[in-house]
Amino acid sequence: MGIVLIGVQWGDEGKGKMTDFLADQVDAVVRYQGGANAGHTIVIGRHEYRLNLVPSGILTGKLSIIGNGVVLDPELLLQELGDLQEQGHDPALLKISDAAHVIMPYHKILDAVEDELRGAKRLGTTGRGIGPAYRDKAARWGVRVADLANAGTFSDRIRGAMERVNAVLQHVHDRDPLDPEEVIDTYLQYAEEIQPHICNGPAMINDLLDDGNRVLFEGAQGTMLDVDHGSYPFVTSSNPTSGGACVGAGVAPSRIKEVIGVAKAYVTRVGDGPLPTQMTGDLGEKMRIRGNEYGTATGRPRRCGWLDAVILRHAARLNGLTGLCLTKLDVLSGIEELKIAVAYRHKNRRLEHFPRDPEVLEDLQIEYISLPGWTENISGVRRLADLPEAAQYYVDTVSDLAGVPVNYLSVGPARNQTIECESL
Ligand code: GDP
Ligand code: IMO
Ligand code: MG
Repeated sequence: MGIVLIGVQWGDEGKGKMTDFLADQVDAVVRYQGGANAGHTIVIGRHEYRLNLVPSGILTGKLSIIGNGVVLDPELLLQELGDLQEQGHDPALLKISDAAHVIMPYHKILDAVEDELRGAKRLGTTGRGIGPAYRDKAARWGVRVADLANAGTFSDRIRGAMERVNAVLQHVHDRDPLDPEEVIDTYLQYAEEIQPHICNGPAMINDLLDDGNRVLFEGAQGTMLDVDHGSYPFVTSSNPTSGGACVGAGVAPSRIKEVIGVAKAYVTRVGDGPLPTQMTGDLGEKMRIRGNEYGTATGRPRRCGWLDAVILRHAARLNGLTGLCLTKLDVLSGIEELKIAVAYRHKNRRLEHFPRDPEVLEDLQIEYISLPGWTENISGVRRLADLPEAAQYYVDTVSDLAGVPVNYLSVGPARNQTIECESL
């Protein structure tokens, strides 16, 4: 059976930690979209792993598959894989779909140059080449992992693509052109190293499912960063929502039996774009420090805000959430009064959905409910019943507002700092 694990908010909800926690219960873990813009942190003992591309299941010795929907940076992948091998993990567990697209050096350059061009309206991308690579995929200029296997075809494709790219770099952006032969040489070396990992992704994943295996689809980013369903244009260029798992891994919707939404007990956002419940002043800064809210991929500070039930409901519906995993509950300890946004208003009109109009977004009134806080340190709690009453009430309220049961609570970065409320 298939289990999809997705981010409910703007990414960094703790998907890596929860994938690692659940990895024991599955046979394979698949990344289905995004690329090295993702940064998934997993703490095992004293060691902190930061995975950008490799599915988090590799740390528990599970088959780890990069699906066709991912845009793959071979340089970063090989670095990550080398580090994992040095730390005693088996690189042979990694499989890469031959239909995944390849990030080229010019994608990264264009990503940076184009975001700079937006000036004050910049998206604050991770600079990992994600937007330009997905654009080339849709425009049919892309290069796939399968193309790397044939030096002749690959070289022709790159020479063709770079003629166009170099013209853009020189004549639109006033930048130096890149040397196609240098790029081809470098990538053909990567190709040799990647070769043993290449597979037919959809065939491998469907075979696993046919044989009765449990496959976990590990989302990157989050619902509000989805190119169709997020806060466009301040989004990424893929579909992190649960439907993206079907397209990005090559499995039918009927294969998916569970959809777990990972939500932080508050919200954060790295990069630009609206964050309706953003905390201002001291509290926002305090949350950033307490929650250690700095981007895993880029180190940038994350903005913090109160939990937003408008988004929770949106995510529950769009993803068909069967369960929630509420993370970083420990970070809320010691805040006297907690707030949750339950509705948005604009000019005294209650809005049913996240607004699409930027002018409306700029002039939102947020309706909050207040909940009592708790002072106890809860990072050592392992049973729901042992949480302070106010923390239990907070969790029940979140579940009621989302209309989804809470399966797991996370009270710290380590694998064992997890409370199972209702297991899968
Ligand atoms: P992801 O991108 O969704 O995998 O999340 P990130 O790894 O980018 O960010 C989550 C951060 O919070 C990481 O540093 C985790 O180690 C940490 N973390 C995860 N769960 C918890 C938790 O329950 N409590 C605390 N204090 N930290 C957590
Ligand atoms: P994980 O998987 C948080 C944000 C960027 C920027 C926007 C577009 O760790 O949750 P991109 O480079 O994708 O074109 O940037 O999306 N972003 C993320 N924010 N977590 C992520 O991944 C993100 N991946 C991209 O900051 O605002
Ligand atoms: Mg992250």
